[in-house]
Amino acid sequence: MSRILVTGGTGYIGSHTVVELMASGYDVTIVDNLSNSNIEVLNGIEAITGKRPDFENVDCLDFMNFNAVFDRFKDIVGVIHFAASKAVGESVLKPLMYYNNNIGSLVNLLTIMQQHGVNNLVFSSSCTVYGQPDEEHLPVDETAPRKTATSPYGNTKQINEDIICDQAHAVPELKATILRYFNPIGAHPTALIGELPNGVPNNLLPFVTQTAAGIREKLRVFGDDYNTPDGSCIRDYIYVVDLAKAHVQAINRMLTVQDRDRVEVFNLGTGRGLSVLEIIRHFESATGVKLNYEIVGRREGDIEQVWAKADKANNVLGWKADTPIDDVLRSAWKWQQRLEH
Ligand code: UD1
Repeated sequence: MSRILVTGGTGYIGSHTVVELMASGYDVTIVDNLSNSNIEVLNGIEAITGKRPDFENVDCLDFMNFNAVFDRFKDIVGVIHFAASKAVGESVLKPLMYYNNNIGSLVNLLTIMQQHGVNNLVFSSSCTVYGQPDEEHLPVDETAPRKTATSPYGNTKQINEDIICDQAHAVPELKATILRYFNPIGAHPTALIGELPNGVPNNLLPFVTQTAAGIREKLRVFGDDYNTPDGSCIRDYIYVVDLAKAHVQAINRMLTVQDRDRVEVFNLGTGRGLSVLEIIRHFESATGVKLNYEIVGRREGDIEQVWAKADKANNVLGWKADTPIDDVLRSAWKWQQRLEH
């Protein structure tokens, strides 16, 4: 049996990925400091898969204890690195915390992997590295230029990608797969795991479901005067379970395909853009719940429109995000309802 170490494995995307890895027969060790997640996620994973993943309450910045995990689990063949701080606004207020956490964790991880001869890394990156792509790069593919980051968070993703490329250049054994996520939404169909927003959500979907549940009075739509068909911003919303499955494909490929580039980059999106207003309409028709919303001014720093060209992931990973949006939105609503009880 092969073991995958998953940092940030109790988080939103991490927990869904752990479920899919275990369903595919991998053993999993989670390393997480629970700074933005809850230990009870392990119960959800166990209820879905019938097995509890190994869990290490360790901060990736704590070199000694992080290193000790690799000493204990000798059968680790690959690492998926999710653990990171991810709130754009917070990163503007606390840049050093973001540089320290997100850069320090990766440097520790790569150092420890090299020392233990673990040579397969999957890294969580973001479409944020593209900024607002120029018109000729929409939908955006992996060859589009990265744009100067507009937040420390975005900058840490770019720097992390660069660190991985530099390390792969220096250490020929190392193989890395950089996954650039578009906008992950939804929850596992069992509603046993999902996104646990911390305080007032910044992201659209938790705000939608909390408004539908009456926790928030109304959803504010940030701008209807963009240069898009209905004036609201466009994103590529991808089902978190589809996204999780791409990680399994990425790991399978690393473990089986020898003649590949040492660093591969994939966009993970659906290939379809939806506007904020379209999301609202789909949510209402999929769930039968009316959403109270109002149009307000633009949110500072927002990108007007971005969606993925995901052909490379479709063709090379043999993966496609194809869950219908209404099913995805229903899963988010089911999860919200479960959180209330
Ligand atoms: C951004 C980053 C993403 C990062 C994420 C972390 C880009 C393209 N994406 O996502 O990489 O991981 O932040 O938080 O830079 N909206 C509303 N009302 C709300 C909330 C959101 O109208 O209450 C709108 C936004 O204006 C945007 C869309 O919904 O058009 C999605 O917003 P959000 O969920 O915050 O994600 P991004 O800003 O796309």
